[in-house]
This record gives sequence, C-alpha cells and structure tokens, in this order.
Amino acid sequence: MNKPLDPITLPAVTDSAVSQWPDVDSLYRRFDALVKQPIRPLKRDALNKVMGYFDERCQGSRRLSEEAKKYIPGGVQHNLAFNHPFPLAIAQAKGAHLTDVDGNRYIDFLQAGGPTLLGSNHPAIREQVNRILDDCGPVTGLLHEYEVKLAQLVCELMPGVDMVRLLGSGTEAVMAAVRLARAYTRKKWVIKIGGAYHGWSDQLVYGMRLPGTGRMEAVGIPRGATAHTQESPPNNLDALRRRLQINRLRGGTAAIMVEPFGPESGTRPVHPDFNRQLRKLCDEFDTLLIFDEVVTGFRAGLGGAQAYFNVMPDITVLGKCLTGGYPMAGAIGGRRDVMQLLAGGIGTSARRAFVGGTLSANPLSCVAGYYALLEARKLNAPALAGRAGDRMRKGLEEIINRRGLPYVAYNMGSIVHLQTSGVLLLDTSNPLKLLRARNEAKSRKHMMEEMGAAYTAHGLITLAGSRIYTSLADTDDVIDDALERFDAVFQLV
Ligand SMILES: Cc1ncc(COP(=O)(O)O)c(C=O)c1O
Repeated sequence: MNKPLDPITLPAVTDSAVSQWPDVDSLYRRFDALVKQPIRPLKRDALNKVMGYFDERCQGSRRLSEEAKKYIPGGVQHNLAFNHPFPLAIAQAKGAHLTDVDGNRYIDFLQAGGPTLLGSNHPAIREQVNRILDDCGPVTGLLHEYEVKLAQLVCELMPGVDMVRLLGSGTEAVMAAVRLARAYTRKKWVIKIGGAYHGWSDQLVYGMRLPGTGRMEAVGIPRGATAHTQESPPNNLDALRRRLQINRLRGGTAAIMVEPFGPESGTRPVHPDFNRQLRKLCDEFDTLLIFDEVVTGFRAGLGGAQAYFNVMPDITVLGKCLTGGYPMAGAIGGRRDVMQLLAGGIGTSARRAFVGGTLSANPLSCVAGYYALLEARKLNAPALAGRAGDRMRKGLEEIINRRGLPYVAYNMGSIVHLQTSGVLLLDTSNPLKLLRARNEAKSRKHMMEEMGAAYTAHGLITLAGSRIYTSLADTDDVIDDALERFDAVFQLV
C-alpha cells in the first residue's frame, strides 16, 4: 500500500430512505381480515394462460432446469430461484431489468434477494472490481487496502458500529454475533422474535417464517443445537420481559436478536417505538441487543435501521448491500469493547470468540463493497430507491382498492410487501390457531406461488411472489410500467 486512505468527504444525505413508517395498527387489522377470508387466487382459465406463457416462451429455461435437476438437489442452488412452475435461467442483468435465456425481458424486483440497491451490474462498481482483479486477483489471504477502507466506511456510516469483522455471509455473521454475545456476557440464552429469518445456522433455524413454529424446520439439527435458542412473539415486550425474568434465574440472556423492521424484512412490521423499548429492556437485564441488519443495512438508509430509529444495538449483523451484490457479503460490527473479543490471529492466548473464513475480506468483496457504498452515498441511492418503493406501494394500493381485492400492500422505503394469500401472516398466537395455520399454509403458499408465476408471465420478477425490492434504477417510468403489469395480473383474479 503506497497511498494514504482517501478521506471520506461526501455530501451528507438528508432525505430519509423511509419516508413514512406504516400505520401498524391499521395494517394488522387488514392482515387479520385477509387471513380470515378464503383465498382469492387467479381464475383457473387465467392460470392456464399464465402456464401457457412458460410453455411457449420459456423453453430454454425449462431445458436448463430439467438438466439442473440431474445434478443439483431440487434443481436450484438458491432457495429464491425455486419458482413455479420452474426456475427461469437468467442470461443478462442490467439496471432495473433481467433478460432470460429465451430473450424475455423482466423488471427485476428480486434484486438478488436484496443486495443490488444501485440496480444490477452497476458499471462504476464493475470497473473497480475489474481493476482489482487485474492488479492482485480476487484473494491473497493477506491484509489489503480495501478491507481497511471498507471497514472504515462502515464505521462512519453505521452509528452503532465502532469496529468491523468481515465474514462470508449473513448466516456466518449471525453465528459470530451469537458467539460473541455469549463470550462477552458469559450468559447462554439467545432470544429471537418468532417468524424472523437469521440465516440457516443450527441455532437459528428456529421459529422461522411463522411465529411459534420452533423446531418445525430444524430437520437434521440436534435438539442440543437449539436448546438455548428461544422465540418470543412479534411486537410483544411483555412476553420478552417474562422470558428475560425466567432466564435470569437460569444463567441469564446473552442477547436478544431482532430484524429491526420486524420479522421477515418487516413482513410483520414493528410498532415504531418497539426498538427503543427493547433497548431499555436489554439494558435493564444486562443483555446485548443484536440488530440483524442484513436486509436493512444501507437499504433503510446508509446508517441502517439503527440510524432510522436512533436506537443503538451492541452488535450489528450486516450482509447483502455491504458488498453491492458481489460475493461475499457478511460482517459483524459493534461497540469497541464487545468487538475486541473477535481479535483475529492464530493461537493467541487471549480469551476470544473464534471466527474464521478462508475467503473472508478478500480484495474483490472489499473493493466492490467500498465503491458500492460510496456510490450509494454519492447518488443518494437509499432515499431514491425508497421513493420508488413509495410510488410502487401507492400504485398497488390504488389498484387493490379499485378492484375491491382484500390484498395488502405496504412499504418501508425500498422494501415493499405485497400480501395476496396472507400465508406469512397467519395467526399462530395459541396452539389451536397454530395447528389451523399449519393446515392452511399449504394452499395459501400455493396461491402465492401462482401469483408469482403470473407476475413473471407479465414481465415482473418478485421475491417469492410477495416482496418487491426497489432500487436506484427504478425510475418513475419503470415503476409505472410495472404497475400496469400488476394491474393486468389483478384483472385475472
Ligand atoms: C435478516 C437476514 N439475516 C440473515 C440472512 C442470511 O444471510 P445470507 O443469506 O447471506 O447467509 C438473511 C438472508 O436473507 C436475512 O434476510
């Protein structure tokens, strides 16, 4: 390294990426109404036409997905690629659009599951990545200028982060956060909110998607691995307090981990004061507060949800937008005194929480992340993507109301939720309701998949038929084009 680090002197971002928090009470009433009524799927003849699209226009994708099934379990490597009736094979990604191997063009609201806030394959980032690949290749295993620059920038942007340790993925960063919290507090219990997703580590495949489902998806995971994981219902501080009180008599709670917008990227949004109250509760019980900002980090504003709510967690988990859509996106950040316990090095005698990773903090990921975040800051990307999300949600609400449908659209900036079947909102608040929800989930999930297929056949790629991520590339024209397509789908109901 023969150059000093660039000073970070960029304009402050004044606009909030989340212009308005949803009216949570009214939303929960609409969720309740949606799940209490029978599903409103596509008409059957319309569904046949939708399937006709895949037969007529997607033969290249069909062939590749048939081939994939021979070598890849289930035919896809990535859960979000598993779409009805078969996964589309993408040949080109640029800005707001994707093109499949058959030449069909789509508006991309999946955004690879969230990281591409600037739109796909942004040229400014690609140029820097190519430069690093020419200079030193993707990895050396030794210190590189850009791992310092990225860490420095993250500390500057995220108010609750004094130090950063880069890892391979959000899942790895969650694992590290749990280990660090236990090492720091010397306590063992970890509480999560029911329905939240924190990756796929043994300890956190627990109470996923639907609150109250505990080990439902913990196939292949020994009971011991989840023995000190607990879930608590969303938006319920009293229930959290009770757990903390009981845990205090049994060794204490190391951490409460939350998705700060609410479980599943705000599918069940938090009450606006929830995080502040949670902070107080953690302080009262000497428990660390972990914000899993894998989705909200940089997307909810460059300072993440912690800046939006002005609530500082002790530990922050990052991923996705951290490396601008390039591999490998994972990091843990936090208070200096806590983070010191993650000190790297081989065979040190100091007490520490051990983490590792051959490819962690490689120059390729770090240069991509550094320039993606700088570009996001320069272009005001979180706020502009948030405005696109507002426009999308308002348009969807207008269509839903005009057509008299029970569907619910809401957004927090560039994270837009579109609930048509309500499968993620089923009431699981007591054992009887949980049983009913588990029975109903299958048909509701199938309806969501059919809606996803219909969106695709109309040129719209969504996340599992119920989530829409907007990006800087989503101009008003792109959103208005998308809204016309959503209207055409809702006409088929
Ligand atoms: C809130 C949250 N935490 C953690 C993860 C896991 O991140 P990764 O897929 O990078 O392992 C995800 C992934 O979607 C997530 O949404």
